[in-house]
Amino acid sequence: MSEERLDTATFELGGDLPVNRLGFGAMRITGEGIWGEPEGPEESRAVLRRAVELGVNLIDTADSYGPDVSERLIGETLHPYPEDLVIATKGGLVRGGPGQWEPNGRPEHLREACEGSLKRLKLERIDLYQLHRIDPNVPEEEQFGILSELRDEGKIRYVGLSEVDVEQIQRAQEVVPIVSVQNRYNLTDRGSEDVLDYCEREGIAFIPWFPLATGDLARPGGTLDEIAGRHDATPGQVALAWLLARSPVMLPIPGTSSVEHLEENVAATDLRLTDEEIAELTG
Ligand SMILES: NC(=O)c1ccc[n+]([C@@H]2O[C@H](COP(=O)([O-])OP(=O)(O)OC[C@H]3O[C@@H](n4cnc5c(N)ncnc54)[C@H](OP(=O)(O)O)[C@@H]3O)[C@@H](O)[C@H]2O)c1
Repeated sequence: MSEERLDTATFELGGDLPVNRLGFGAMRITGEGIWGEPEGPEESRAVLRRAVELGVNLIDTADSYGPDVSERLIGETLHPYPEDLVIATKGGLVRGGPGQWEPNGRPEHLREACEGSLKRLKLERIDLYQLHRIDPNVPEEEQFGILSELRDEGKIRYVGLSEVDVEQIQRAQEVVPIVSVQNRYNLTDRGSEDVLDYCEREGIAFIPWFPLATGDLARPGGTLDEIAGRHDATPGQVALAWLLARSPVMLPIPGTSSVEHLEENVAATDLRLTDEEIAELTG
């Protein structure tokens, strides 16, 4: 990203870890159903390398992507890491097969998961470790408690949550500082507005997953076409630019397995929508 874009384009995770606000989601660099090896491992590696070249310095992943595959590819491809690269991973979901995701928030599992992520990512400490889901079958305080312990032990720097409501964030904050929340959110899916507002008030990063609604918002012929046309942009870029304009704590992490799509997504940081366009899209 160009120098002049950096001022408005950055956010400080935890108040002292700056990241460019448009990150990269590394879930799509695995096989079909987020299971196994990617069909084109060289393209997956090329996507990771190009993301860093383009100035992306927040990469989101999870032990369950593959499982293990996404983290392993990141470690193999990008280590030794550029100094400013923040890798945000997650634990707390286990995989039985393609498309299957089961929560496991038992403290012993979360500890083992974190240690596995450290190895695959070749890190001494994970900058941002996110609880992928709160496991309804395990007392919440045990799940937050183990994250606090891992932080005290220096295995993780900052703690984040995923798919949570405001009350859950507040209960977690009583146990351990929370620096990020990752919930599903995009132009057409705004069920988490109250969580976003809470994050903005608290200075917590809001990481919207599914920012392009699996490509639907990026497809021509949709409602975003007209605005995109005015800016010589693509509908997906409009969807990302709207997210970036929506809140200064918003850190979208569009996912792709293609260098071309990655380049298009990162270029959305250059797109400035007018106030009228933002209002029209916000509705
Ligand atoms: N916390 C959670 O529970 C959770 C859940 C899901 C995802 N996530 C995270 O959020 C990230 C993003 O979510 P997501 O991958 O589900 O949704 P997304 O980023 O909204 O959509 C990704 C899909 O859009 C396509 N795409 C991306 N850029 C495109 C472009 N410029 N033009 C056309 N199509 C494009 C991709 O296909 P191609 O590969 O063909 O580009 C892929 O199928 C993930 O990578 C992961 O890190 C978190």
